[in-house]
Amino acid sequence: MKSRLLSVFPAAMLTGLLLLPCTSFADDDSGGLVTLRGAPIQTSTANSGEALKKAVETTPLERDFTQQPPLVSHAVDDYPITKNFNKCMDCHSWDNYRKEKATKVSQTHFQSADGQELANISPRRYFCLQCHVPQVDAKPLIANTYQRPSNAR
Ligand code: HEC
Ligand code: HEC
Repeated sequence: MKSRLLSVFPAAMLTGLLLLPCTSFADDDSGGLVTLRGAPIQTSTANSGEALKKAVETTPLERDFTQQPPLVSHAVDDYPITKNFNKCMDCHSWDNYRKEKATKVSQTHFQSADGQELANISPRRYFCLQCHVPQVDAKPLIANTYQRPSNAR
């Protein structure tokens, strides 16, 4: 009993020490929000990710694993998705994909959360950019030996 308490105690103290800096308030526009390491959280919109909406426009890159949401092979900055309107479906819907020479959204995109087949795009697949991002020429962050499986399309 005693030895277990002893081993738990230093860990708890260490956690307390690590958490301490979080309670200090940063002097910026973050409203006092800090990361777990105590660095202020940047809330300015200067790095809003707009640049990432420009894709390398070639044919779609190969997928790296089965079930990977394919990368978008075109820019998306002119394609709004709002509560009432989804520009992506102008080209990727089953009605329009042939005319637009686009890939049609797959059957999985019509399934509701409880597995029912819906007549239109499922609400959980409505915000396309949640899962599909434009393809860019990004180098791996760390060197690795990952090989794409032969069955990934
Ligand atoms: C004006 C028509 C148009 C609009 C709007 C459009 N796309 Fe596309 N999309 C295309 C075409 C054409 C391709 C290329 C298909 C090919 O080359 O095989 C494509 C390719 C893609 C691919 C790659 C598909 C694959 O086979 O790997 C994805 C993913 C995609 N688009 C997602 C989106 C998303 C998300 C939006 C909305 C933000 C969107 N698209 C809006 C026409 C469009
Ligand atoms: C929750 C994540 C998610 C969302 C949201 C989503 N997709 Fe997908 N999408 C996927 C995955 C995973 C795949 C690959 C497996 C599959 O087909 O289901 C895919 C496949 C696709 C494909 C390729 C289909 C094929 O036959 O190869 C297209 C095109 C596509 N999505 C377009 C869209 C569009 C347009 C939207 C928005 C209306 C959208 N997706 C929303 C995850 C998502």
